Amino acid sequence: MADEFARRWPENTTGLDAVHRYALLPSGKLLRPHLLARSALAVGGSLEAVLPAAVGFEVTHTGSLLHDDIIDQDAVRRGRPAVHVAFGPEMAIVAGNALIFTWFAALAECAAYGIPHRRIVGAMEIQAAAGQQICRGAALELSLVGDLEASLETYSEMARAKTAALFEAACQVGAILGGGEAPQIAALGVFGDHLGCAFQIRDDLLPYREDGAGGGKPADSDLRNRRPTLPVLLAHREATPAQRAVLRACMMPGPDEGEAFGRLAGVLRATGALDAAEQSARHHAEQARRALAEIPPSADRDALQALTTTVDIPLARSA
Ligand code: IPE
Ligand code: IPE
Ligand code: MG
Repeated sequence: MADEFARRWPENTTGLDAVHRYALLPSGKLLRPHLLARSALAVGGSLEAVLPAAVGFEVTHTGSLLHDDIIDQDAVRRGRPAVHVAFGPEMAIVAGNALIFTWFAALAECAAYGIPHRRIVGAMEIQAAAGQQICRGAALELSLVGDLEASLETYSEMARAKTAALFEAACQVGAILGGGEAPQIAALGVFGDHLGCAFQIRDDLLPYREDGAGGGKPADSDLRNRRPTLPVLLAHREATPAQRAVLRACMMPGPDEGEAFGRLAGVLRATGALDAAEQSARHHAEQARRALAEIPPSADRDALQALTTTVDIPLARSA
């Protein structure tokens, strides 16, 4: 897969292509193309025929990160300067837009490998709806800034739209292009939705990991942006009045962000919120596993199932 990116975005390019190469290489974890390819193979499709669509998912995901880093004012992504730092925010906006259009161009390429047009149209419908969901999720997240009273249902709606929609779409598009039956397409969609929810909760927990593995992005981003992440909302529900006062103070802009982060993490540990969020992620991972029962046994189904176990590794432990 990484070879395919190097082929499409070769060295010594200039202009917009150079920005894209910087954004895409070295790549991230390539989760979404992996989901698409395995879903297609699990229903009997061919890897070669769906590879362009899989590349497209990584490309649009990366485009959304270019914009996300501007919104969150995060200077580091995948352990290196974010695109808006390296090339300026104006260029990052334009480059992100171009990457999102490339999602559709890449899907159309699958026709040249013999994928029937009606499958491509079905996949396009899924991609367009997922793109709209991601924007709805991002907008909902913006409306929740500093809101410690946000309900868990609202958090869930936001995380499903912002993150799980693309996981779900990757699985569905893989299943559609691979020629899956309607129940298989639906089951893989449910799998991707739950896996995506588990994944976003794990992302919320990244800053609190004891091993310090933060995925190459700033640990203070969610706090600095006053995001009511799942562990923060769970802590607020269980907190004593004194702990709630700490949470409220931490969620206000202040002079010493480092100190605020330490105090916030202390309340999250003391209220058991890190463990409770981890439980919620496990619950989604289990639901994802169950959805795979609809898919015939194969090495590819096993590979999808293995992703639910990867996200089962405890990422955050309370003291
Ligand atoms: C980061 O996604 C954005 C979220 C949805 C949390 P990934 O953790 O998959 O990012 P990369 O592509 O591996 O860098
Ligand atoms: C995920 O948002 C970004 C998108 C789904 C576009 P986050 O802000 O939670 O992701 P990270 O933590 O920056 O990767
Ligand atoms: Mg972000």
